[in-house]
Amino acid sequence: MTPYKLNGAAWQESWDRQQEAYLPDREQRITAMLDVVDTVTGGGPLRLLDLAGGTGSISLRALARFAHVDITLLDQDPALLAIAAASLGARATIVTADLRDPAWADRLPHRAYDAVLVATALHWLAPARLTELYRELPAVLRPGGAFVNADHMPDPQLPELSRRLIARADARRAARYAAGAALEWGDWWERAALDPVLAPLVAERHRIYPQPHGPEWLPEATWHLDALRAAGFSETGIVWRGGTDAAVAAIR
Ligand SMILES: C[S@@+](CC[C@H](N)C(=O)[O-])C[C@H]1O[C@@H](n2cnc3c(N)ncnc32)[C@H](O)[C@@H]1O
Repeated sequence: MTPYKLNGAAWQESWDRQQEAYLPDREQRITAMLDVVDTVTGGGPLRLLDLAGGTGSISLRALARFAHVDITLLDQDPALLAIAAASLGARATIVTADLRDPAWADRLPHRAYDAVLVATALHWLAPARLTELYRELPAVLRPGGAFVNADHMPDPQLPELSRRLIARADARRAARYAAGAALEWGDWWERAALDPVLAPLVAERHRIYPQPHGPEWLPEATWHLDALRAAGFSETGIVWRGGTDAAVAAIR
């Protein structure tokens, strides 16, 4: 009998559908992030760090877009990293590290990345730790290198409109779940736990993340920009906004 093998492409697709239910404009935000990367390297060889990269959605899109790209994907979720390893293969270096640990960067194969990208992940960190992480980032970027963080960053100038936009997004998502168009986060993990390869890794990830989510602290974009400037980045600003989400960029 042929031994069961993890189908990386199928799980990657399933992850993307599950994430798109939360972020219908996910592809646009990733494109905006890669546009920043493009300006930094001008199409030349690229050394990219996909921070908290999960299954490798950003890495895969960078590989599809850029000809010469050396990718490091860092995360601590063993199940998502197994999917990343299956779909990226030798095209990326996969690093297991906890971003709550200030020594996380010691595990990287390089210093001086051209770009560090992170999406929908840093809201899992507590405020003090995120502030520190921002201070640690310049040490892994070359001068002129770019950091981009896309996440939930509601605009404080629009409190009532933001509330309504979130309610509208919630209703749309609920309709998609009811129609079976996508799996809700918890259901996706239950499905993953049925895969013979992923099952023990899902059990391990539930030990790493005992609660369904991290602290879920969602500061506005200006908080990120202030913290990045204080961390020593030269240029900082918003490069993309979609509803109550945004991507902030910072140049070392
Ligand atoms: C919602 S997923 C997003 C993954 C990927 N960036 C994407 O857009 O598909 C959040 C990711 O952050 C990772 N993460 C959260 N806290 C982390 C930590 N302390 N150290 C490393 N990774 C972390 C999770 O394991 C997960 O892969």
